[in-house]
Amino acid sequence: MRSKVTVVGAGNVGATTALRIQQLGYTDVVLVDVVEDLPQGKALDMLEAGPVTGTDARVTGSNSYEESSDSDLVVITAGIARRPGMSRDDLLLTNMRITSSVTEQVVKYSPDCIIIAVTNPLDAMVQNIYETSGFPRNRVFGMAGILDTARFRTFIAEELNVSVEDVQALVLGGHGDDMVPLVRYTSVGGIPITELMAEEKIDQLVARTRAGGGEIVALLKEGSAYYAPSAAITQMVEAVLLDKKRILPACAYLEGEYGINGLCVGVPVKLGAGGVEQIMQIGLTEEERTALRHSAASVQELVDVMKKSKEEAAG
Ligand code: NAI
Ligand code: 2OP
Repeated sequence: MRSKVTVVGAGNVGATTALRIQQLGYTDVVLVDVVEDLPQGKALDMLEAGPVTGTDARVTGSNSYEESSDSDLVVITAGIARRPGMSRDDLLLTNMRITSSVTEQVVKYSPDCIIIAVTNPLDAMVQNIYETSGFPRNRVFGMAGILDTARFRTFIAEELNVSVEDVQALVLGGHGDDMVPLVRYTSVGGIPITELMAEEKIDQLVARTRAGGGEIVALLKEGSAYYAPSAAITQMVEAVLLDKKRILPACAYLEGEYGINGLCVGVPVKLGAGGVEQIMQIGLTEEERTALRHSAASVQELVDVMKKSKEEAAG
């Protein structure tokens, strides 16, 4: 029997992710969105690609969650993007409300699923989805680090004219301007990057990686990246469904690891059938540790704004 994955949000990231997952061939996909007929139309279009791409996997669209019942895995991309005149906090609180209501439905219809959160601001949304779900921490995590790392790897490969496959990198921290690309853990075919590139060039690539999401937004004018994000989400989905035990960066709820307690932040994890099966703890220099703490503090600020808003709403 094929496994079942639900993707909530049939926009750019959600629809592209649904297509990539369906094309794996071994899992059926349900695409859910609030916009009437949108997920149904996109799902039917994907299904009709099956005879050409050679996949029998089903993909269906829905405006409710009944069809998503008993999913093995749910990807949450539902939300709004920031528009002119909106503050960061406006985006935060709107997407908090959306992801809270989506999570309640997901938990109701798929109580045993694993959730991959994608909606921005990523780390705060993972925290909200984790707390709303009541699931154990291994079953709720977020995608950002694979995307940030892929950007860093792409820039390094282009600069050195080598295959992207040979570039290994690691980015820690929140999915924001203060993410922490770890140069010390970056290598090309096992050779430390510092042996191959001048410090100044590495610093330039780190800066470009930090601004990578904004670079795409500036080019697209409307909306943000979705090809690389959907590829990154699909890698996580595969790691779970095939129990691959991959070591990948993910936003996970920390309980003392890296000196961080009660907060969702990007760290290397082992991803398998159980979701986050292990938080990988690696040695950091004092400078790296300070950068990670700084990045975590930015996430904490957003979490505090969400907490205040929930307290006010509760009266
Ligand atoms: P989009 O605007 O194309 O799609 C969002 C979809 O969510 C829309 O179709 C909308 O109708 C739907 N939606 C809104 N409220 C909903 C609800 N209550 N239930 C179900 N669906 C609902 O946006 P896009 O480009 O797909 O991005 C989605 C989110 O992912 C954004 O928050 C974006 O910032 C984030 N993102 C995160 C990345 C990461 O690395 N974590 C990478 C790329 C995007
Ligand atoms: C990105 O980094 C928008 O978070 C998204 O492209």
